[in-house]
Amino acid sequence: MKQFDYLVLGSGIAGLTFALKVAPRGRVAIVTKKDRAESNTNYAQGGIAAVTSKTDSFESHVQDTLTAGAGLCKESVVRTIVEEGPARIQELIELGMKFSESDAPGEDGGRQLDLGREGGHSERRILHAKDVTGREIERALLAAVAAQPNIEIFENHIAIDLITSEKLGYVGENRCLGAYVFDKNSNRVVTFSAPVTILATGGCGKVYLYTTNPDIATGDGVAMAYRAGASIANMEFVQFHPTCLYHPKAKSFLISEAVRGEGGVLKSLDGREFMDGAHAMKSLAPRDIVARAIDSEMKKSGADNVLLDITHKPAKFIIERFPNIYQTCLSYGIDITKEPIPVVPAAHYQCGGVVTNVDGETDIAGLFAVGEVACTGLHGANRLASNSLLEALVCAHRAAVKIISHPQPRSDLKIPAWQSGNATNADELVVVAHNWDEIRRLMWDYVGIVRTNKRLQRAQKRIANLQEEIRDYYWNFIVTGDLLELRNIATVAELIVNCALQRQESRGLNYNLDFPDANPAWAQRDSVLRKLKN
Ligand code: FAD
Ligand code: SIN
Repeated sequence: MKQFDYLVLGSGIAGLTFALKVAPRGRVAIVTKKDRAESNTNYAQGGIAAVTSKTDSFESHVQDTLTAGAGLCKESVVRTIVEEGPARIQELIELGMKFSESDAPGEDGGRQLDLGREGGHSERRILHAKDVTGREIERALLAAVAAQPNIEIFENHIAIDLITSEKLGYVGENRCLGAYVFDKNSNRVVTFSAPVTILATGGCGKVYLYTTNPDIATGDGVAMAYRAGASIANMEFVQFHPTCLYHPKAKSFLISEAVRGEGGVLKSLDGREFMDGAHAMKSLAPRDIVARAIDSEMKKSGADNVLLDITHKPAKFIIERFPNIYQTCLSYGIDITKEPIPVVPAAHYQCGGVVTNVDGETDIAGLFAVGEVACTGLHGANRLASNSLLEALVCAHRAAVKIISHPQPRSDLKIPAWQSGNATNADELVVVAHNWDEIRRLMWDYVGIVRTNKRLQRAQKRIANLQEEIRDYYWNFIVTGDLLELRNIATVAELIVNCALQRQESRGLNYNLDFPDANPAWAQRDSVLRKLKN
C-alpha cells in the first residue's frame, strides 16, 4: 500500500497543473499509463484560446463558445473559464512555456504573442507554439514538476479501478479512498491510498476506429468513475475533427484547424469549395458543421477523402508557421506548399464525461475530475476549438484552490488488497485484440457522425454481448494492460450509445436522422447516466 496526500491519475495538462499547485501542501503521486509525456496534451497543435488582445473581449469569447455549444453550455461556467483564462496563461508563461511571438511589434513597440484563428472564433485569440503547442506545454510542465521534491511520478502504471467506501461495503457517504493500479513493470497490482484522488485521464478517441488521439485515450477515467457510482453526462457529444491526414501509412495525424485559420480551404476531389454553401464561415465554420459537410460530400461522391488546400499562401510562411505538419506530410510524400492535403474526419474529443462543477468536484466525496475526462458544462453540445487546454488549466487551478481551502479528511477505513483471477490462456490476446477491433469498428459504422436509432440499437446489442464476454475474461484471467483498456472502451462505448439513445433530437455533435431537428424540450438538458447499485 502506498499512501499519499494527493493521488493524480494522468500526466497531461490537467494532472500536471494540479500536481504543481498542491505540491507545496503535501505529497503527490502522479500515476501515468505510459511515459510521462504521452498524453493527448502532447499532440495538441492549434493552441489555447484566451482573450489577450485589446481588440478582443471576454463577451466575444463567451458568445463564440455558447454558439458552438448549440444551447447546451452552462453560461456561468463558460464565463468563469473564459474570464480566468488570461491569469492562468500568464502563470504558464512564468513557468517557462514559450508561445510563438508575432513579427509585428505590439502597441508599445515591444514584442507581442502571435494569435492564431480557428473554426467558430470570431477573433484571432489562439496562443500557440507554432504547430506543436502541446509538446511545449508538456515540456514546460514536466520541467517544473521535476523541480518539485514532493511529487513522485509512477510511469507505466495503469489505474484499474477507484477504491470507494461503498464498493468496500461501508455504509454512509460514498467516499473515494484511492485506486488499485497495475504496475506494468512488475505485473503487480499496487494499492494507492489518498484522501484526494484526481481523475485527469483525458478522453476516449480510441473507442473509434479512426481517431486523432494517441493510444492512451481509452476513456479509462470515465469508465472507472462510472463503475464507482459517479454521474456521467453528455457522452453522445463526440467531436469529430474535420481534418485528419488521409494516408495509408499515417496513424492518427491531425492537420490543425489553424491551417484553415490561416486561409486553408476545403475542396472536393474535383476542386469544388463545398463549404461555400454550407455555412457563412465556410471552411472555418464550427467543427460539427464542417465534419458533417465533409461526411456528406464523401457519401455523395463516393470519394475516400476530401482536400485541404493552402498552396496559395507563400511556401516560407507555411513552413515557418506549420513546421511539424509540413515535415510530417513531406515524410509521406505530400508537399503541402505545392499540393492539397488529403483529409478525412476522425474522432477527436470527448465533450461529455464525469459530471463536475467548475472546481472539479464530482458527486463522490474525495474524487475530483479535471480536463477532458470531466463534463463541466463549458462545451455543451460541441466544443469550440482550443477551449479544452484552457478548461484544463483553469479547472485544475480551481480544484487545487478548493481542496486546499477545504481539506478532505483522511479515512481510516481498511482497504483490502486487490483480488484477481489467476488463469492464463494462450488465446487470450487474440480474443482481446478481436473484441477491441470489433468495438472500434462498430462505433465508427453505427455511432459516427450521422446516427439513426436503428443503428444505435444494433450497436447497443452488440456491445452488451461483448461486455459479457469481457466480464468472463476479466474476472478469470490475470490482469493485463490490454484487457483493462478493452474493458474500459466497452464501457465507454456503452455510455456513448446510451446517451445518444436518450437524446431524441439533433443538437451540436449528436446528429440523428430520426430526429433531424433540435427539440426545445432538450435545450439545457444533459443526458446523465449513473450505474445502479449492485
Ligand atoms: P491528456 O492530456 O490526454 O492526459 C491524460 C493522461 O492520463 C495521460 O498521461 C494518460 O497516459 C493518463 N491515463 C489515462 N488513463 C490512465 C490510467 N488508467 N491510468 C493511469 N494513467 C492514465 N485542445 C486544445 O485546446 N487546443 C489544441 O490545439 C488541441 N489540439 C489537439 C490535437 C490533437 C492531435 C489531439 C488528440 C487533441 C487536441 N486537443 C486540443 C485536445 C486537448 O489536447 C486535450 O483535450 C487535452 O490535452 C486533455 O488534457 P488532459 O490533461 O485532460 O488529458
Ligand atoms: C487543432 O489544432 O485543430 C486542434 C484544436 C483543438 O482541438 O482544439
